[in-house]
Amino acid sequence: MTAPAVDAQDKSEMTGNQNWLVTADGNRQSFGSVEVDEPERIYRMYRFLTDLEDILDATPDDRGRLEAITPRVRQLLISSYWLQMEFHQPPVDPGWSVNFLYREHEWPLTVQMVAWLPGNPSPIHNHAAWAVVAIIGGQEKNTIWRRVPDPEHPDRIEKVAEMILNPGDIITFMPDAIHSVEPLGDEPTISFNLYGKTTFKDRYEFDPETHTANNF
Ligand SMILES: [Fe+2]
Repeated sequence: MTAPAVDAQDKSEMTGNQNWLVTADGNRQSFGSVEVDEPERIYRMYRFLTDLEDILDATPDDRGRLEAITPRVRQLLISSYWLQMEFHQPPVDPGWSVNFLYREHEWPLTVQMVAWLPGNPSPIHNHAAWAVVAIIGGQEKNTIWRRVPDPEHPDRIEKVAEMILNPGDIITFMPDAIHSVEPLGDEPTISFNLYGKTTFKDRYEFDPETHTANNF
């Protein structure tokens, strides 16, 4: 007797302590090393931000940026451990909270700690910016989608994979990668999120039932 065929789309990929890069076609690639040297002096947020600016100046392509930024994020989170506590307990409504770690007038990047209560799935969206998300606490399911347009439905999408992310995982997204996020378990999911400059006209929420996409 042959085993029933299992649809690859229904399997969840369990991960742990890895760096991931997700592209628009839904491809998930593990990259780089998670081993980073603890810096001799504390790697403070302001040095991280200066390094980040230097990387962005020196690296025009988003993939190269994500590969260069990810080890710095690991270093920051190891060295400036206090950051891991810089989240707000999310209220039941809306079920999530955001704490901006740095803001400045017309500064185009976003650095934040986000906490989500289980039972609050996000909409399906892309970021229209490169994105780095480091899981610090809890567990989250990332569902990865891709565009499969047809003449009638140019914004049609399909589910590609589910990834279960754990503390120590860093997932990075190209600007047109599409995902939705759902906290799992009983504890809030805590993550350090870093986003590049957003091109708002290219940022969408997708509806897989109506095959539509709307700017948000
Ligand atoms: Fe997202």
